Amino acid sequence: MLSEQSAATVRATLPVVGAAIGEITERFYAGMFAARPELLRDLFNRGNQAAGTQRQALAGSIAAFATHLVARPDERPDAMLSRIAHKHASLGVTAEQYGIVHEHLFAAIVDVLGEALTPEVAAAWDEVYWLMANALIAIEKRLYEEQGGNEWREWEIVERVEETADVATFRLRPADGRPAPGFRAGQYVSVQVELADGARQIRQYSLSAAPGSPVRQFSVKRVHGEAGPDGEVSNHLHAHVAAGDRLRLSAPYGDLVLTDLAADAPLLLASAGIGVTPMVAMLGQLADQGHQGRVLVVHGDRSPAEHALRADHEAYAGKLADASVHFFYEDGAEASHRTGLVDLTGVDVPRGTRAYLCGPLPFMRAVRTRLIERGVAPADIHYEVFGPDLWLAQAA
Ligand SMILES: Cc1cc2nc3c(=O)[nH]c(=O)nc-3n(C[C@H](O)[C@H](O)[C@H](O)COP(=O)(O)OP(=O)(O)OC[C@H]3O[C@@H](n4cnc5c(N)ncnc54)[C@H](O)[C@@H]3O)c2cc1C
Ligand code: HEM
Repeated sequence: MLSEQSAATVRATLPVVGAAIGEITERFYAGMFAARPELLRDLFNRGNQAAGTQRQALAGSIAAFATHLVARPDERPDAMLSRIAHKHASLGVTAEQYGIVHEHLFAAIVDVLGEALTPEVAAAWDEVYWLMANALIAIEKRLYEEQGGNEWREWEIVERVEETADVATFRLRPADGRPAPGFRAGQYVSVQVELADGARQIRQYSLSAAPGSPVRQFSVKRVHGEAGPDGEVSNHLHAHVAAGDRLRLSAPYGDLVLTDLAADAPLLLASAGIGVTPMVAMLGQLADQGHQGRVLVVHGDRSPAEHALRADHEAYAGKLADASVHFFYEDGAEASHRTGLVDLTGVDVPRGTRAYLCGPLPFMRAVRTRLIERGVAPADIHYEVFGPDLWLAQAA
């Protein structure tokens, strides 16, 4: 909790800091990467840095945390902290690195705020930083302990399957002979690859088979550059990784998991495009558990041919006691499916439904709006963003 004196100072300076936070984080990253180029090469996603999206996520989260601290000093924004900590843990972020971030963040704050940064204001924001950092460090420590340490392991590709023209599934087993770590459906691993220029870039991929499945797998969509260059890691995996090769993987992390499910809880699993991956793992888990409740399976894609993991998607849904499947294709929909974008009109969403969403932000925004209109509680709508989570600040 913030000291009373700092709370008053943070409250008074929130508008000034909030207005400057975009510039602060821009200078912060520039300063940190100039001093520590290895962090940009081997830890941060340089595509996100170039596109500016990660900056927005960091800035948004600090502003949201400070706002939360002064508005509701007795509570912690746990949902937001947990999401960041899972991402950090998958990247192997260490407690010591919070000192590096602190040094460069506060150098940027001094630069941008100039004389407005009195010692009192600096001390108050220092307190905010360390409250947030220490909360994250504590959650990350627990996550590492649950996984037996902060460790990258080598895995061998045992099979590669072409799902669609742009999506390949990689099936793996640990190369060190030790057992594969357990995971929960919906979780992801970080994958680190060495690129042609020697950078070791990291990306996250959701595990796309259920925990009980005999195979451990993830499925990667090749990212074609539209406004920018082609995606670095997805194209590297597609072009250079096949059966017999090895990859460095983190332990599984991620907080989009099916929790505290009553046996008959109604569920909605809605995805679009490559957002199908965590949903297929969840459906597999529900099928394995013999889930008895109603399950609405909703998915949107450009065409049936581009719908990755479609056979598993249908097969798992088919094993459930009470599932209804609604697939939407922009082109080429067969008679049993619908043409166009996902549209929940006419889909009966039972009271008390818990929803899990994954796909592009416009898709998730549209589905979320419809669900709230239908009386689904916002707290029962869970989601995963396949990039920097720009919705995070709202979770605080
Ligand atoms: C929790 C989580 C789970 C995920 N699960 C999956 C999954 O199951 N399957 C899957 O396929 N993906 C998944 N992703 C996405 C995945 O992690 C990668 O983001 C994706 O593969 C793209 O990475 P890349 O290296 O190919 O692209 P990047 O090189 O990171 O590029 C990403 C985008 O940034 C743009 N960009 C890069 N440089 C610039 C520049 N200089 N200027 C402007 N724009 C630029 C690119 O054009 C591209 O559109 C997941 C992500 C998260 C966070
Ligand atoms: C209080 C301090 C910190 C805050 C508030 C913070 C906040 C965030 C947020 C909001 C995200 C995006 C999460 C998501 O999209 O799911 C993120 C990602 C990330 N953070 Fe932190 N972070 C902090 C400290 C650190 C430290 C110490 C490091 C290590 C040097 C670090 C490295 C990263 C990396 C590498 C990513 C992913 C970047 C990407 O994929 O583009 N962070 N952080």
